[in-house]
Amino acid sequence: MNLRLQTDTAGISWEFVASILREAGMANFSPECHKQAFENSQTVIFVFDCEKLIGFGRALSDGTYQSAIYDVAVLPEYQGKGIGKIIVDKIVGSCPDCNIILYASPGNEGFYEKFNFRRMKTGMALFTDPGKMKNRGFTE
Ligand SMILES: CC(C)(COP(=O)(O)OP(=O)(O)OC[C@H]1O[C@@H](n2cnc3c(N)ncnc32)[C@H](O)[C@@H]1OP(=O)(O)O)[C@@H](O)C(=O)NCCC(=O)NCCS
Repeated sequence: MNLRLQTDTAGISWEFVASILREAGMANFSPECHKQAFENSQTVIFVFDCEKLIGFGRALSDGTYQSAIYDVAVLPEYQGKGIGKIIVDKIVGSCPDCNIILYASPGNEGFYEKFNFRRMKTGMALFTDPGKMKNRGFTE
């Protein structure tokens, strides 16, 4: 692999980002929506193998003490090679004094435990589609 990291949104194929997130079952928004979401995020990280986009993630943050991670995904054929770790390490490092929250998709909790994330006892969410999120195992 010839890895390259990018920390801005220049030249990103939002169609590709949308397709990766859709195939991972993580989001089903238009490419334009994802473009807006990443552009409005404090931290973005895109990982390329040569010119091929193979993974990404982003964080919302006040830049001071609170941050939230979203949309961490790695192409299936590149999973298990340390790419997700690069993405999360980079995001965590971007706001060293921040509390960072996220909600892992069910089955991926162990991935975040590797970075010392711990399950929250009082996490609450107001989802736009509460029934879907309940069915997917995110809420009680
Ligand atoms: C979850 C995901 C981002 C992990 O990325 P990855 O590149 O495969 O992970 P890495 O190779 O960097 O793994 C880092 C460590 O986490 C572990 N790990 C990876 N996925 C894991 C999982 N689902 N559960 C537990 N541990 C996991 C690895 O074994 C590795 O451990 P090690 O450091 O002891 O060797 C990736 O599998 C993915 O994109 N999945 C589909 C999308 C998704 O579900 N994203 C998460 C949304 S919350």
